[in-house]
Amino acid sequence: MKITDKDVKAAIQSIGQAADITVLEELRLKYLGRKGEITQALRAIGTLPVSRRAKAGAAANRARAQIETALAQRVRQLKKQQTETEARRPLDLTAPGGGRTLGHLHPLKELQKQLIQAFWQIGFQVADGPEIESDWYNFEALNIPPGHPSRDMQDTFYLENGAIPRTHTSSVQIRYMEIHKPPIRIISTGNVYRNEDEDASHLWAFQQIEGLVVDKGVSLADLKGTLLYMFRSVLGEQTKIKLLPSFFPYVEPALEVHVSCVVCGSRDPSCRTCGGTGWVEMAGAGLVHPQVLRNVGIDPAVYSGFAFGAGIDRIAAVRYQVPDIRYFWRPDLRFLEQF
Ligand code: DAH
Repeated sequence: MKITDKDVKAAIQSIGQAADITVLEELRLKYLGRKGEITQALRAIGTLPVSRRAKAGAAANRARAQIETALAQRVRQLKKQQTETEARRPLDLTAPGGGRTLGHLHPLKELQKQLIQAFWQIGFQVADGPEIESDWYNFEALNIPPGHPSRDMQDTFYLENGAIPRTHTSSVQIRYMEIHKPPIRIISTGNVYRNEDEDASHLWAFQQIEGLVVDKGVSLADLKGTLLYMFRSVLGEQTKIKLLPSFFPYVEPALEVHVSCVVCGSRDPSCRTCGGTGWVEMAGAGLVHPQVLRNVGIDPAVYSGFAFGAGIDRIAAVRYQVPDIRYFWRPDLRFLEQF
């Protein structure tokens, strides 16, 4: 088959008039497809007498190049037209909105914020301390001398220079009392670190909230009321607490704080959160040990105080019914977007 100049002209003209990309694609196939006219013509060259091959080949190649150029040009034109039409389309103010997802605070941050707000409302200040502590603030001043067996209660990381990623926020109590005199009413929240194996209820880095009140005549009743207030403000008004005897060298008496299971309402013997006991241990607490007050120059004959420390991750796990606290520390949006 021979392609004449007239054929090429006709092809270029129809390409230039193609109304859209679909028509254009049909034309491309018509000329350049596997069975297209130009393709056929090129193929047929081999059957021509040798004397005519060179001329016919050159003509067919020229035709192909011209048609390719025309196709590319028309694609550009059509795209430009499309953009212009879209830009000119009137804005439909009645069209439904596309929606927009906004980020939000991480559930632990949100809980931390609510706890801080609850304590602000009853007159507590927020105190802060470093995450890398000295032995004095993390242990000694809290009545835990070197070699004391109670150091084993918390598996500690040690840095090469002997400093300690704090194992609890109780260190902030000492820092605050060293520079402030009673009356003292503070909370402190932040990360703490333990050299522990992780499991569904243990992490090597987690968050605590610490409370400290020192004044004249502070009693266990004050402590109990404050703990009840704290847990009710984040877990609901029906929450109950139970105080059991325990041991922490910096408080006397020392208490374990158990909170009624808000997941099963303390009614499900097979509840995964409370193990069917109806209670979840959430904090340690007690009346500040006289030696701790003496360590920071506060006279225990005049002042008394209470302190508590609770795990924020644990409160969050119960509040949101999350069976494994490791989820809170993974950057998995499928989990985090549920809050
Ligand atoms: N520091 C303890 C812990 O990390 C919690 C604690 C217990 C804090 C008793 C206190 C307290 O302030 O009085 O397990």
